[in-house]
Amino acid sequence: MILVFNHFLVLSCCFLFVYTAFCLSSDGFTLLSLSRHWTSVPSSIISDWNASDPTPCSWLGIECDNTTHRVVAVNLTGFKISGKLGPEVGQLSFLQTIDLSNNGFFSEVPSQLGNCTLLDSLDLSVNGFTGEIPENFKQLKALRFLNLCSNSLSGEIPESMFHTSSLEYVFLNQINFSGSISRHISNLSEVIELRLYVNQLSGVIPEPIGNCSKLEGLYLHDNQLVGSLPRSLTILKLESLVYLYVSNNSIEGRIPLGFGNLKNLSILVLSFNDSIGGLPPDLGNCSSLTKLAIAYSNLTGSIPFAFSLLHKLNYFFLSGNRLSGPIPESIGNCSRLEYLNLDGNQLVGSLPESLTNLESIV
Ligand SMILES: *[C@@H]1O[C@H](CO)[C@@H](O)[C@H](O)[C@H]1NC(C)=O
Ligand SMILES: *[C@@H]1O[C@H](CO)[C@@H](O)[C@H](O)[C@H]1NC(C)=O
Ligand SMILES: *[C@@H]1O[C@H](CO)[C@@H](O)[C@H](O)[C@H]1NC(C)=O
Ligand SMILES: *[C@@H]1O[C@H](CO)[C@@H](O)[C@H](O)[C@H]1NC(C)=O
Ligand SMILES: *[C@@H]1O[C@H](CO)[C@@H](O)[C@H](O)[C@H]1NC(C)=O
Ligand SMILES: *[C@@H]1O[C@H](CO)[C@@H](O)[C@H](O)[C@H]1NC(C)=O
Ligand SMILES: *[C@@H]1O[C@H](CO)[C@@H](O)[C@H](O)[C@H]1NC(C)=O
Ligand SMILES: *[C@@H]1O[C@H](CO)[C@@H](O)[C@H](O)[C@H]1NC(C)=O
Ligand SMILES: *[C@@H]1O[C@H](CO)[C@@H](O)[C@H](O)[C@H]1NC(C)=O
Ligand SMILES: *[C@@H]1O[C@H](CO)[C@@H](O)[C@H](O)[C@H]1NC(C)=O
Ligand SMILES: *[C@@H]1O[C@H](CO)[C@@H](O)[C@H](O)[C@H]1NC(C)=O
Ligand SMILES: *[C@@H]1O[C@H](CO)[C@@H](O)[C@H](O)[C@H]1NC(C)=O
Repeated sequence: MILVFNHFLVLSCCFLFVYTAFCLSSDGFTLLSLSRHWTSVPSSIISDWNASDPTPCSWLGIECDNTTHRVVAVNLTGFKISGKLGPEVGQLSFLQTIDLSNNGFFSEVPSQLGNCTLLDSLDLSVNGFTGEIPENFKQLKALRFLNLCSNSLSGEIPESMFHTSSLEYVFLNQINFSGSISRHISNLSEVIELRLYVNQLSGVIPEPIGNCSKLEGLYLHDNQLVGSLPRSLTILKLESLVYLYVSNNSIEGRIPLGFGNLKNLSILVLSFNDSIGGLPPDLGNCSSLTKLAIAYSNLTGSIPFAFSLLHKLNYFFLSGNRLSGPIPESIGNCSRLEYLNLDGNQLVGSLPESLTNLESIV
């Protein structure tokens, strides 16, 4: 007999069909059902996902629990699959890991994913998913890693996201999200990396973000954010912060005092279309800074003398501001500087000769 398996055919004898119908585990059937929604399936899967196996545990991209033989991981990253993610995925109730990144999935993310309540890691990045993030995502109480970047999702970051306080890595960049960043962001008390860059987010950076005390990377660049940098970044001491990118927004107001408390801050990028007063001297106390870029940001005042304390500074980009006064001699103590661009300001004086490592001066 001939089993029609979507666009390809599985030739099989009647006996085999009866045999498999009784023997392949329910998770195996669910996976085959999922594959029926795909219009393009790689030949490696066609030949490997064999309906006459008792379990799908040896199938390409599939991992099972060794004792229960239930599917715990589906990893089909970069398999060139195109098609829909079917609602049957919700029946794989022991799933802990889903990685479908870098494929051609389109259409909506099924709300039934919310039934996979043991999910720890969900990666749907670099696909063509559309629609909104389902409300059911709030059932994913164990989720630590969420990557939906580079899809065509729409709408706002759903409030349901902030019910998942287990989240540690949240990658929602390049999705075209609009709306503002919720004050409930502080619900994400475990978050380590928050990537919201290249969206259409507007409104202010909410003060409660300062309560996300484990944040190491905050990427908000290329949005339409307004208002000032929240005071909470420094007074609540996000001491674990290493990367802070806020460039290409319309931030204004002074850089809050207290940045000097951020001893682990390595990269601070605030450039372009922001208007943020002067450089606070206490930035000189960010002893881990390697990259400081605050270009085209209407900076006024002078370069603080204390910047000589930035011994690890490698990249220093302050072009296109309205800085004035002398270039401090003490900058010569930043012995690791390799890129320095102070062009387009009203600074006077010359660079100290001690800056021997400089590869690029503009
Ligand atoms: C599927 O498994 C059966 C039994 O082990 C085997 O006879 C058959 O050739 C396999 N089919 C494919 C496509 O590998
Ligand atoms: C199952 O066992 C194999 C080898 O014994 C091991 O590599 C694998 O990590 C185990 N998988 C799970 C989900 O426990
Ligand atoms: C999926 O597999 C790829 C390569 O085979 C690996 O790099 C990636 O880390 C895996 N994803 C997960 C979530 O384990
Ligand atoms: C998801 O779970 C709900 C109840 O929690 C159940 O009614 C529904 O049938 C499940 N859906 C799937 C696809 O398993
Ligand atoms: C998180 O935010 C929601 C609003 O979306 C709020 O109702 C809830 O109490 C907050 N706390 C937790 C732990 O979810
Ligand atoms: C992004 O969203 C806006 C509406 O908010 C829409 O007009 C635009 O077409 C979307 N862009 C893409 C690339 O999806
Ligand atoms: C943030 O933390 C402060 C101090 O720990 C606390 O008083 C405040 O309620 C928290 N705010 C939010 C929105 O979680
Ligand atoms: C700062 O970085 C060091 C070294 O990576 C780390 O041990 C320390 O815990 C970090 N401090 C905070 C507050 O995260
Ligand atoms: C800069 O911000 C202003 C509003 O403050 C806005 O009108 C303008 O389009 C922005 N320019 C760029 C390049 O983002
Ligand atoms: C830098 O830190 C030192 C000691 O922690 C402190 O005495 C000094 O006032 C700080 N400098 C600035 C400019 O805040
Ligand atoms: C730069 O700042 C001055 C005042 O300090 C203000 O008048 C001007 O509009 C600002 N320019 C931009 C592009 O924000
Ligand atoms: C620069 O470094 C020298 C020697 O390392 C030190 O004596 C001097 O105080 C430093 N100057 C500044 C402004 O930090």
